Amino acid sequence: MELLMERIRQEGLILSDTVLKVDSFLNHQVDTQLALEIGREFARLFGDKSVTKVLTIEASGIQFAMATGIALNVPFIYAKKKKAVTLSEKVYSAPVYSFTRQETYQVSVSQKYLSPGDKVLIIDDFLATGAALAGLVDIVRESGAELVGVGCVIEKSFQEGRSLLEKKGVLVHSLARIASMSPGEIHFVQDHRL
Ligand code: G4P
Ligand code: NA
Ligand code: NA
Repeated sequence: MELLMERIRQEGLILSDTVLKVDSFLNHQVDTQLALEIGREFARLFGDKSVTKVLTIEASGIQFAMATGIALNVPFIYAKKKKAVTLSEKVYSAPVYSFTRQETYQVSVSQKYLSPGDKVLIIDDFLATGAALAGLVDIVRESGAELVGVGCVIEKSFQEGRSLLEKKGVLVHSLARIASMSPGEIHFVQDHRL
């Protein structure tokens, strides 16, 4: 998605060879029109799959899951990272190891909102190690729903997330794929389909 790559080039702050900060337009302050455009792009990429629900994980996947849900005219669900006291109903859950925090946490979704008849599209902001997304894939499979694929706004292609998901048999589309980066320099994967 050229518009997105251009914003990353202009406003992305490369903090190290592995961490890209996009707080000014994607995941702290959010450019709402860009978020809606991102949703339309995911709807275009997965539009022939009869998606019934979009699934993401709190917090920074929410705006893109909502935009995609709007574009596909379906609801979106966000998985919770902590079991809320009000979430007394039965949940599907999966453990996720966070490399940044070096701890394992549970992600959960109420069993009320995913069922075998659903066709689920998973959306997130970053594809890095893929650990959180792999947890969502496990939740969808546990529910008996069909997983249509995973859409990520930014993929760091030099990390293992894509191959982890592909090993699980998951179709992955990312709107901006970073081949490599270092402070002051960024290279995207050349991909004519995007
Ligand atoms: P992941 O690939 O499964 O997301 O796992 P990882 O443990 O590598 O990433 C941990 C968190 O850091 C995730 O957010 C992920 O979106 C975020 N992240 C990974 N790489 C980058 C990066 O280069 N830049 C930025 N800005 N974020 C990155 P999270 O813990 O799920 O939290 P939230 O922000 O969604 O609440
Ligand atoms: Na995220
Ligand atoms: Na994040």
